[in-house]
Amino acid sequence: MLAAPVRTPTRSRSAKPASESTTAPISRRALLSRTGFLLVPPEAIVSPESRLEYRVDRMLGEGGYGQAYFATRLGRSRSVPASVCIKASEHIDGWLREAYFGQLLDGDPRAIRVFDAFPLLRPDRPVLYCLALEYAPDGDLRSFLAASGKRWPEVAARREIAGILQVLQKLHRGQMLHRDLTPMNVFVCGDRTLKLGDFGIARHQSDRRGVRARTMNRLTAPLEILDGGAPKWQARDDVYQVGQLLGMLVKGDARARIRTGEIRRLPCTDHLKEIVYRCIGERRKRYESADELIEALRHRPAALKIGALRSLENVHLAFTGILTTRRSEAVRAARRAGAVVHGSPSAKTTVVVRGRPNPLQAAGRDAGRKLMEIKRLRERGQRITLLDEKRFWKLARPGNEKRKTENVKRKSRKPR
Ligand SMILES: Nc1ncnc2c1ncn2[C@@H]1O[C@H](COP(=O)(O)OP(=O)(O)O)[C@@H](O)[C@H]1O
Ligand SMILES: [Mg+2]
Repeated sequence: MLAAPVRTPTRSRSAKPASESTTAPISRRALLSRTGFLLVPPEAIVSPESRLEYRVDRMLGEGGYGQAYFATRLGRSRSVPASVCIKASEHIDGWLREAYFGQLLDGDPRAIRVFDAFPLLRPDRPVLYCLALEYAPDGDLRSFLAASGKRWPEVAARREIAGILQVLQKLHRGQMLHRDLTPMNVFVCGDRTLKLGDFGIARHQSDRRGVRARTMNRLTAPLEILDGGAPKWQARDDVYQVGQLLGMLVKGDARARIRTGEIRRLPCTDHLKEIVYRCIGERRKRYESADELIEALRHRPAALKIGALRSLENVHLAFTGILTTRRSEAVRAARRAGAVVHGSPSAKTTVVVRGRPNPLQAAGRDAGRKLMEIKRLRERGQRITLLDEKRFWKLARPGNEKRKTENVKRKSRKPR
């Protein structure tokens, strides 16, 4: 890998092309070291691949690997539009990947198109690896949100993220990971249409365990990956980044990472809050791939209906919400009635007693952390009965002994 291990966000740089401010002739290398420009507007470059000529007009931006320029196609072409974005880099690595993924996703309406890929060979100069990309007139998402300062309505955010997820689904189904779904790599193409770009660090994985995470952008890389707790980047980490994008869109600000603590205050429905929480919350509980996230966006989670139960004998039980009595008293009562009590829901849980909802729940009224875990476990086929406090006390009160013994008798008649 030729690039620095951690990609730094775009450096600020004078927008004025160096060629305008320089009168004395200067070698490009000297210019680069002095100004940082790989190409000098208004120079023209020729692709030996398509034989097309492009006039480089102005710099658009810079990422960890290369620089992007607005350019005009000079010759005639039916396949390449008149305005393109020329991305230039001195490193072959990212270029190879972008050209490859460009071919793979060619024609996908939600992926930035790659029209031309060529090395630029110049005498006495290092090779410059170039791509002619679809030009995004409204730039990347981070600068778009910074310039407009507006939140996106939830419908628009959902629609556009669904579009991005379509591309990600193709990647994930083919065991590929994007690994760089930052707001600088999602582009705004007129009418608030989002497209995914910059496949410079995308990878194939040989199995679902992921790929070793060395190269990443700090802005929205999962914290577990940054602190070394999780050594491999997996599809769920791409999902984490999509959750960040969703949160940023409804918040209207992509300058900083969305924290789990701010989700309940996001200006969107509880359904979306819950989705964002599932994306960016605890890693092992995340949606595992684009497919699962798409599914969650399409369908509201099943309602948390209160169920019926005859006895607490031998059930594995957890409490959530605010109870009318002390939690310790309820725990004692549950144990007396024969239940095994857990601090929070797990793979063993069969019953959850729900008190009054805590107004400070993580992701809305029906989405405290424990309730979200119940929904996740249910999605995986676990049967969990939800009881309200009234029903719980009915079963937990000593007056209920008679029913309890009946239940045991019934059980022994019908062994499972
Ligand atoms: N197709 C494009 N249309 C418009 N702006 C672009 C385009 N591609 C890149 N840019 C601008 O250049 C910046 C860096 O480009 P990017 O492709 O992300 O490079 P890197 O691989 O170095 O991260 C982007 O954040 C964006 O501002
Ligand atoms: Mg980039």
